[in-house]
Amino acid sequence: QTGQFTYDPGFTSTASCESALTYIDGDEGVLLHRGYPIGQLAEQSSFMEVSYLLLNGELPSQDELTGFTNTITRHTMLHEQLSTFYRGFRRDAHPMAIMCGVVGALSAFYHDSTDINDPVQRRIASHRLIAKMPTIAAMAYKYSVGQPFVYPDNSLSYTGNFLKMTFGVPAEDYEVIPAVERAMDRIFILHADHEQNASTSTVRLAGSSGANPFACIAAGIACLWGPAHGGANEAALNMLREIGTPDRIQHYIDRAKDKNDPFRLMGFGHRVYKNYDPRATVMQSTVREVFDALKVNDPLFETALRLEEIALSDPYFAEKKLFPNVDFYSGIILSAIGFPTTMFTALFALARTVGWVAQWNEMISDPAQKIGRPRQLYTGPTQRDYVPLSQR
Ligand code: SDX
Repeated sequence: QTGQFTYDPGFTSTASCESALTYIDGDEGVLLHRGYPIGQLAEQSSFMEVSYLLLNGELPSQDELTGFTNTITRHTMLHEQLSTFYRGFRRDAHPMAIMCGVVGALSAFYHDSTDINDPVQRRIASHRLIAKMPTIAAMAYKYSVGQPFVYPDNSLSYTGNFLKMTFGVPAEDYEVIPAVERAMDRIFILHADHEQNASTSTVRLAGSSGANPFACIAAGIACLWGPAHGGANEAALNMLREIGTPDRIQHYIDRAKDKNDPFRLMGFGHRVYKNYDPRATVMQSTVREVFDALKVNDPLFETALRLEEIALSDPYFAEKKLFPNVDFYSGIILSAIGFPTTMFTALFALARTVGWVAQWNEMISDPAQKIGRPRQLYTGPTQRDYVPLSQR
């Protein structure tokens, strides 16, 4: 196509769709968002800027970025009725269970004002979802610890506002630590979009029926929760805590190699990357930045580094091309910032919402788009006649 180019990773026949948002070369460990390498975006951009890029296809001018950020800022509040919804959950409800419910419930507030055939209403719905996810995630955390909800503060950045809604309390001022805000924002960038992963494919399939975007994103949240997908960041830190000290690593490496043992190294391996996940590279370098900013040190980081070193020198992992993925180091950072492990996947969902809505918009705005209808290879019985119960 004029002015366009199509990278053919060689599996055109199995591709579920065409998309211009994100390109992954799993063999080379390359991740591009609208052509820009994830490493450059993580180091030089911001989550609001990357969100604009994913939604619009180009990096914004200063005016475009200011306008977009202001629009998102003005949608961060949640309808007060929804805070009642939270109170129906048990206090120990998993934040992902709450997010599935609350994001799905947004349909009840915006369904009748979201004509998905109207690009303006699609954009408003997209902005609402991107804007409200930090508020929804922060409220899930506050509810779990029995603290009052903290309203959005429009004087703060997207990420600074999220940190204040999560860790601030009405009884005292909350100061956003710039280095933590930067690290959190970078983590959001690293999780923004990732081609047709399981949860994004779920959002696309749900959206292909014409379902409203809030219900589609709730479906994506449900899929992301699985430990093989977004739930791996929580599982990876739990695994590192179970391993504890480096001397216990080899036992877990041996378990991961044992076909009769269901144990997998969490945060390792990937359906597409058969090389180092470029997001893990940035994540690893961010750990030290957060430790220095917060003057903390978590010995699990050394355990993680040693585990990576041992695994990557083991022929099993080399042969199967198993490398650390985005989830391997993220939990160490999030734990240092103060999040409980149960919030890790909720943070992944918060960030991935921009990818989900950008992919949903790309699909819905394609006039040739049809409802998704995967087929199967049938392996059941050939046709046979019914046998009455009396004869069975
Ligand atoms: C995410 O798709 C995306 O883009 C997802 C994601 C995104 O941004 O949306 O990148 C986010 O989900 C990252 C992945 C997070 N999940 C985990 O870290 C969980 C642990 N990883 C594994 O469960 C596994 O690696 C998967 C599920 C991610 C992939 O599993 P596959 O499809 O089996 O991987 P594979 O085909 O490359 O496996 C090759 C072999 C298999 O053994 P054999 O059948 O050849 O004997 O390696 C084995 C696997 O059993 N293997 C592992 C392993 N991962 C794969 N063995 C031990 N430990 C592991 N972690």
